[in-house]
This record gives sequence, structure tokens and C-alpha cells, in this order.
Amino acid sequence: MVSGNGGIVDFMKLVVANWKSNKNNGEVIDWLDGYQAKQTTNHNATVVICPAFTAVSTVWEKLKLFREKTPFLGVQDISSFPAGRYTGAISVKNLEGFDVKYAIVGHSERRRYFGESHQAVANKVVQCVENGITPIVCVDDEYIRQQSVAIESKYYSKCVVAYEELGAIGTGNNEPLDHVSKVIDLIRSSFDGASVLYGGSVDKDNIKGYLEITDGVLVGTASLDPDHFAQLVESC
Ligand code: PGA
Repeated sequence: MVSGNGGIVDFMKLVVANWKSNKNNGEVIDWLDGYQAKQTTNHNATVVICPAFTAVSTVWEKLKLFREKTPFLGVQDISSFPAGRYTGAISVKNLEGFDVKYAIVGHSERRRYFGESHQAVANKVVQCVENGITPIVCVDDEYIRQQSVAIESKYYSKCVVAYEELGAIGTGNNEPLDHVSKVIDLIRSSFDGASVLYGGSVDKDNIKGYLEITDGVLVGTASLDPDHFAQLVESC
């Protein structure tokens, strides 16, 4: 059975690298070697790496050789169904043995390009929590309430919720702190007990402000380069 930490981030900040559909296996190995060479203990971050499913095995094998407890392994999606007749889906069962701690669910790119609904995301939360994986539920401020209503409240404290501003994702236009702060408050009141992240063009130069008002960050583009990402983690 895979195991999770229940979504509790305490004083450590959660830094989640979302590589999306970038990197072949060789590039993944190069990244991990590069990051391992730069990694220090000089920070208060719990780091999670979310590769494509094709690299889960490679990342897991390599992370076992790291001296530090983290990075942990995460995935970018999970099936909303259990193991069974769901061609092409990756279920929690498929991931057994890799000690996947986190799963991103409901990323705006999944909603936009793959038609993922609030209910499908809620079903993914159930699959994760019932199998010891902490879901990282992505929401835009447009549908925070609808998404929280679709998820049973007993799961909120087991979730990490990431505010992802659509216009800030992959654009270099990170969202101003005052707006992020308001949305974070709305998320905290809608998902009682959840840890809350911000995502959208976070990099090593702007991360500090976000860490003051959140429990961590979800990082896309700036996680692709191991040197930049190591510096970003050191800012925590
Ligand atoms: P970005 O992506 O850091 O490239 O904006 C964030 C995300 O979509 O997870």
C-alpha cells in the first residue's frame, strides 16, 4: 500500500515540482543527478517531485539513493476509479510499491484539455485518501466553492489545496500577493483544515512572498532546471 502524510505540513513548507509532460527518462536521470549535487539541508522545505508516469519508477529508484528524506515522489494525476476495466488509466493499485506520497488532482490543464469535472476530481480525492496518498487539489478562484462542495468535508483535512491562477500558469506573470492572500483565505474557509499552496510562475526570486501567506508552492517551469529549483528550495 502506498503511504501519505495526511496533508499536515506544520512548520515545513511544501514545495511541489510539477514537470508536466516534459522530460524523457535520460533527462529525468540528469535532473536528479544535478539536483542531488546541489541539494543541501539548509532550508525548511518538504520537497515533492511529480514526474510523468513513465518516469515514476526511475525517480523512485533514484530517490532511494538520496541522503535526505526528501524529495518525496508524487504524481500529476490519478484515476478516479479503482483498479479494473479502465483502459489507459493509472490507478492507485498501479502505483503500489513506489511509495507515492502525493498526487496532483484537478490541475487546470486537466480540467481544460481533458474535460475533468469537479465530481471526477472529488472521486480522485477519495481514491487518494483511502489509499494513503495526499491529494493536492488544484483550484482557480472561479470554482473554489463548487469544488469544495463536491468533496466530502471529512476529507478536507487530508487534502492540500493549491490555488492556481489561470493567467499566471506558465506565463511568467505571477499573481500579486494581495489577491493571492484573499483567495487563500477563501480556500481556508472552504476546505477546513487543508494545507494551502499557491502556484503560477513561482520562481526563486518571488517565492518568499508566497511562503509568508501559504503552506507552500506548486512550481512548474521553474522546477525544470535542477540548479534553479535547488536555489528556490533553499529560499524556504
Ligand atoms: P508554472 O506552472 O510554474 O509554470 O506557472 C505551475 C503549474 O501549473 O503547476
